[in-house]
Amino acid sequence: MNVKRAMRLNGKKILLGLTGGIACYKAAELTRALVKEGASVQVVMTKAATEFITPMTMQALSGREVFVDQWDARIANHMPHIDLSRDVNAILIAPCSTNFIAKLAQGICDDLLSTLCIARPTKLPLLIAPAMNVEMWQNAATQRNVLQVIADSIQIIGPGAGEQACGETGMGRMLEPTQILTELIASFQAKTLLGKHVLITAGPSFEPIDPVRGITNLSSGKMGYAVAQAAWEAGAHVTLVSGPTGLEAPYGTHRIQVQTAQQMHDVVMAQVAHQKQAVFIAVAAVADWRVSNVSEQKLKKSAESRLPQLEFEENPDILASVAALENAPYCVGFAAESERLLEHGANKRIKKNIPLLVGNIGHQTFGQDDNELVLFDESGYKQLARADKSSLARQLISEIAQRLSSAK
Ligand code: C5P
Repeated sequence: MNVKRAMRLNGKKILLGLTGGIACYKAAELTRALVKEGASVQVVMTKAATEFITPMTMQALSGREVFVDQWDARIANHMPHIDLSRDVNAILIAPCSTNFIAKLAQGICDDLLSTLCIARPTKLPLLIAPAMNVEMWQNAATQRNVLQVIADSIQIIGPGAGEQACGETGMGRMLEPTQILTELIASFQAKTLLGKHVLITAGPSFEPIDPVRGITNLSSGKMGYAVAQAAWEAGAHVTLVSGPTGLEAPYGTHRIQVQTAQQMHDVVMAQVAHQKQAVFIAVAAVADWRVSNVSEQKLKKSAESRLPQLEFEENPDILASVAALENAPYCVGFAAESERLLEHGANKRIKKNIPLLVGNIGHQTFGQDDNELVLFDESGYKQLARADKSSLARQLISEIAQRLSSAK
């Protein structure tokens, strides 16, 4: 059975504000992305923004009338600055100009968008994605205003560094629409691991036979990457130690790429020694054995058709090594079984001496976008029904956070 990926902003109403800047062209893509994730989008533009992209384009993409003017008579009570924000779940300003940050910092209300921001209910989240020239971003007045808006609980997304439309290079580029989308989705998640360090392994390992061949497995890394993303969404500092995959690093995480089980072991142990990790989640499908007689040159077919003789030695068990440490982080293991999951899962948790083990059926999940999990802990087991890997990862992170806080 294939489960459709959940729309991550289903039922959410977003007020998207555009201020003047060349990055307005990215707001078109952002609007499409928001709508695709199930959000309903109300666009409000400043007069300057309409110089860069037309309200008609934004109306077509959002499927709703666009507002610019504070005195717009389309709202019956003539109060668009009040009515437009009352039933939304968040206000997102992208792009947000230097001038608009200054207005937010000072509480200036001289057009619909700025008035609407000041008139928003106290608890309504306001996120801004700055977009400006590097000198404007670094300017002392801008930096002062940025500190002020942060102190006022406005969430700043970005900016990024790179080439700018003006030809200069540096900080001030608006983040890409997919990055802004990821930040917005995360803003709705409970911060159950706020400020905690979480270390995760993911993907397969690759054990060389010779310089061009090796032994690996069918793990795609999707589950581990989804767990890393969910931990970041929950507010954690995430380090992801990954075997070879074709996946992009999950947004906001620090990824270290490795090939072999031994390399994964060494990186994990160094990370645990270097930084107090609150949680270690071993999702990687690590090879139990490696070839001990790796050939320095490519193995060739011999004239007598002699088969190569591979010899093996055991790899270190990364999870068991971490779990055995004094002051070990809260350790979570994964078990990919091919049968009798309930029996093997419960036994493996005890054998590995860890508080939580997550079981799944390997050949039913490797490479797939969905999965079905069983959590084993000292009180028994709990099933998480088949769903896409992002939803399962969020449920798993919430289960880990609950156990972590009750373990204190
Ligand atoms: O014993 P088994 O390989 O089935 O255990 C799976 C769990 O142990 C997973 O969490 C996996 O990431 C971890 N593991 C490990 N190092 C190994 C083998 C498995 O960390 N060498």
